[in-house]
Amino acid sequence: MDAFYSSRCICVALVVLTLIRSGFAQQDDILIGEFASLTGSTAVFGQSAHDGIQLAIEEANARGGVLHKQIKLITEDDQSKSEDAVSVVNKLISHDHVVALLGEVASSRTFAGGAVAQISKIPMISPASTNAGVLEIGDFVFRACFNDAFQGTAMAAFAAKSLHAKKAVVLTDVRQDYCMTLANSFSAAFSEDGCEIVSQQAYSSGDRDFSQIIKSIEHSHPDVIYIPGYYDDVSLFVRQVRDHGLMTPILGGDGWDSPELTRGLEKAFNNTYFSNHFAPDDPNERVQTFVTNYKKRFGQEPTSIAALGYDAAGILIDAISRAKGTDSISVRNSISSTKDFSGVTGTITIDQNRNSKKPLTILRIVDGKNVFAQNISAAARPVGKYKLPER
Ligand code: PHE
Repeated sequence: MDAFYSSRCICVALVVLTLIRSGFAQQDDILIGEFASLTGSTAVFGQSAHDGIQLAIEEANARGGVLHKQIKLITEDDQSKSEDAVSVVNKLISHDHVVALLGEVASSRTFAGGAVAQISKIPMISPASTNAGVLEIGDFVFRACFNDAFQGTAMAAFAAKSLHAKKAVVLTDVRQDYCMTLANSFSAAFSEDGCEIVSQQAYSSGDRDFSQIIKSIEHSHPDVIYIPGYYDDVSLFVRQVRDHGLMTPILGGDGWDSPELTRGLEKAFNNTYFSNHFAPDDPNERVQTFVTNYKKRFGQEPTSIAALGYDAAGILIDAISRAKGTDSISVRNSISSTKDFSGVTGTITIDQNRNSKKPLTILRIVDGKNVFAQNISAAARPVGKYKLPER
């Protein structure tokens, strides 16, 4: 082979290789990176967020893309590990040159990947990391969800104003920062509303016997019990409360959101409520359109995390459409000026601290099914009237 042909062969090979490595992205596609736990311990969360993100991007591309360009999503699996979050975010930034990032669900991995995004000045939106510290990573990190403290504040408003509760018992899982944050914000807001925390009881994740706590609850005659823990401990607690004959309303947070919560306990969970990001039976038209399209695309109902993934991608696409350029600084500035973005998890405004100001949804559990009860506004006020179910 002469020198001319062999150099042409090398050129062609290089072009093909570049195309393969870039997944055939067109020169002028807008590249968005996603890091997600597609495998590993929280694969269910990662896959849900990914599906929501994918749907938002497919819909935007079908509408003609953004700034007359198509969006290309490059997804990397971090295997539910913080170390891998660091390496895949590095790869998305230095190799793929994405303009922005979406991820992660778990706060621990958002911390890890977010640090890399921040140093590289690439804007990033986490769908679901609610931990207060996440926004302290720096000014390139945003989230589509509310923070943990808001759940306590909003549930206190629901308890006082919609359930007309005056006295509450609060249970705290001392091993979980998450639970402590919700419990403390609930207590502060409930007391401000002129109501009273009649007792606070501590437990530890994995405790099996709540009988002492239940006896003390019985003596303090609360109108509601707040236990913002994770679903496995909550299941056991609710079963023991009901077995003891107490029918007091029991309230919680998004740590309850699992099909495991009520398994075999459908009746025991009547008269319980929890705060969450999304309700697929919310009658809002935008929610219903999303639920229909999601079911058509993936054959199942969207979870809260899927809805948050959809909104995180939606906020980013909206920001790019308003940005002065597709460089990462312009996109960051545009995300930070997001105002009244109409998401499926509510209307979202990014405030001056980069928090997502948005409403929250209260679900009531009826015979093991989660039923939309009421939205609570970003100002922690119940939206609309709530009709108390007949006892
Ligand atoms: N809020 C959790 C975190 O910050 C993630 C999560 C969101 C888990 C929603 C369950 C449901 O780590």
